[in-house]
Amino acid sequence: MSEVSQSRNQPKHIAIIMDGNGRWAKKRFLPRFAGHQQGFKALRKVVSHCSQIGVQALTVFAFSTENWKRPQDEVNKLMGLFLTALQKEVKKLDENNVQLRIVGDCSAFSQQIQEHIKIAEDMTANNTGLVLNVAANYGGRADIVNAVQKWQADNPEKNISELDEEAISEHLFLADLPAPDLLIRTGGEQRISNFLIWQMAYTELYFTDVLWPQFSEVELDRAIGSYGMRERRFGQTSEQVEQC
Ligand code: IPE
Ligand code: IPE
Ligand code: MG
Repeated sequence: MSEVSQSRNQPKHIAIIMDGNGRWAKKRFLPRFAGHQQGFKALRKVVSHCSQIGVQALTVFAFSTENWKRPQDEVNKLMGLFLTALQKEVKKLDENNVQLRIVGDCSAFSQQIQEHIKIAEDMTANNTGLVLNVAANYGGRADIVNAVQKWQADNPEKNISELDEEAISEHLFLADLPAPDLLIRTGGEQRISNFLIWQMAYTELYFTDVLWPQFSEVELDRAIGSYGMRERRFGQTSEQVEQC
């Protein structure tokens, strides 16, 4: 076990915006899809490392609601990669006690992808190790709108004035998990791009120029190390936090 993993300050829930695949490929005069393929390999490493060091949940942004706007050929290839990953990786995830969940509006995916999502989620549903959330066709704003609609459907007798923060939190996709402690964004951009906007109100942000296909266990430990040095105050003073 690495030093970082023994730290008391290890994040329970890590979120990652896996960005920079296209630029990684471009630098090497390769098609963008080569970057996505290499990015997939980086994800494998990161999942296995999180699993080994005892992270409770890992939520990765794989495809946003806005990514449909990309060239059709790239979208098709990404869908192909998603399907292959679902078909080929699930057995190994299951063996490693990982619980896989796909987070987002799955109705937009092909019938075949939807079937494999169901198979993968069912197969790993009772696993007790790392919870791996793959955000696909996910948008933070849509998550909030859906949460409000679900609340209303669950509570038809209630008035909108009774809708509070807890009610929204309870109806989001990741309702049963603690909010991410740490968000890592690779690829040099410093923005949230409509990821877990509600849940990240107090998440520690870590930006790195490393392009996602080059991200590794060492980079992950570096991010976790940075997290471990921070003081999370949640609005309190430093003195109050120290007293706790
Ligand atoms: C992230 O890498 C992967 C997806 C959004 C699917 P990009 O494809 O956005 O890579 P860059 O930002 O163009 O380098
Ligand atoms: C965010 O990356 C979405 C994913 C990593 C899946 P983008 O590359 O789509 O984000 P923007 O467009 O640069 O904000
Ligand atoms: Mg990008």
